[in-house]
Amino acid sequence: MVNSQSRKERRRAELPILSSCGVPTKVGNIPRFLHSKKAWLPLLSCITISDSDLEGIKDQVVIVTGASSGIGLATVKRLIQHGAKVFVSDLQELPEPERSQIPFLETDVTSWSGQVALFKAAKDKYGVIHHVFANAGISSGTALLGKDVDDNGNLLPPDLKVINVNLIGLMYTVKLGIHYIKQNPKGGSIVMAASASSFTRFAPSDYTTSKHGVYGLLRSLYCTLYPNMPVRINAIAPSWTDTGIISADLIEAVGKENVQSPDVPARSVIALMADKNRHGQMIYSQNGKFWDIENGENGLVAHTDRMIAEREPGWEQESVIRLTKLRVERAAVAEMGKS
Ligand SMILES: NC(=O)c1ccc[n+]([C@@H]2O[C@H](COP(=O)([O-])OP(=O)(O)OC[C@H]3O[C@@H](n4cnc5c(N)ncnc54)[C@H](O)[C@@H]3O)[C@@H](O)[C@H]2O)c1
Repeated sequence: MVNSQSRKERRRAELPILSSCGVPTKVGNIPRFLHSKKAWLPLLSCITISDSDLEGIKDQVVIVTGASSGIGLATVKRLIQHGAKVFVSDLQELPEPERSQIPFLETDVTSWSGQVALFKAAKDKYGVIHHVFANAGISSGTALLGKDVDDNGNLLPPDLKVINVNLIGLMYTVKLGIHYIKQNPKGGSIVMAASASSFTRFAPSDYTTSKHGVYGLLRSLYCTLYPNMPVRINAIAPSWTDTGIISADLIEAVGKENVQSPDVPARSVIALMADKNRHGQMIYSQNGKFWDIENGENGLVAHTDRMIAEREPGWEQESVIRLTKLRVERAAVAEMGKS
């Protein structure tokens, strides 16, 4: 007889296969780990998001980048529905009816001066900024495998457009967000557009690298923002979502039944903003369901700790504690120097 504990143990035993650097075993031409989805999903912390979880956004001022399409536009629709005040931006115009309802500034997120103008315009309009959704993004451009050469036959450098939009542009948004939100005594939050490719093996190198970068930013800022200052940081990590960056043939290949509506990740964005207890979370959404990838007994933080502990009990955690102590001591010395 197979009891529930042995099933659980068997599932845990499969995890090193997913996280090892070795070549996965194959079933036909498909790597075996691609068949293991059901084995690892139940280990994560599944969460529910109901409409009442979004009510806290009422009357809050929210900036959204990349607001004219897909997840950004779905978030704007939800924000309005739940009574938030929004100021949005994109390279392209908003569609109607939002175009005639919402303040909009055309902004390329890769332009620092453009984003400075966006945040100033929002502050001038509402007097305060509570939340920011750093969402603008584009799909993959380069895989580093090209043989493109210049006139002398020398290999050309990689095209960094995706990194510039998805990571550098997002870092501009986040820096401005921190600056403005901390001016508000009650604070607020920033939500960043990460992706399922932030923590999975996904082929497009520039896109996956940019989204792993967003994940790194989440983990770094988790340590330095809240509660040191009243700014929470979180991210969304949608799986396949029916938006402008997913072409019809990709949807066909993945299967329509596996592609969710942009309203699903939009709900996770607002839940992260509205709930003051959410900090350092990355909400993965797939087919209308939500999981916090980072936290909880089965989140990646705890899981990585367990893996490392097998070799070096507690060392990574200990080093983080030592560095935090050093940072606090240095801040105290700097503070004393001022007085
Ligand atoms: N659709 C998915 O399956 C999926 C999955 C995971 C993560 N994401 C992320 O969600 C975010 C939103 O993408 P989407 O899927 O809604 O696609 P989308 O193409 O529908 O929307 C992206 C928006 O960003 C805007 N944009 C692009 N470059 C910009 C720039 N330089 N400055 C300002 N705006 C710019 C576009 O004009 C567009 O309106 C992206 O960061 C994307 O990587 C999407």
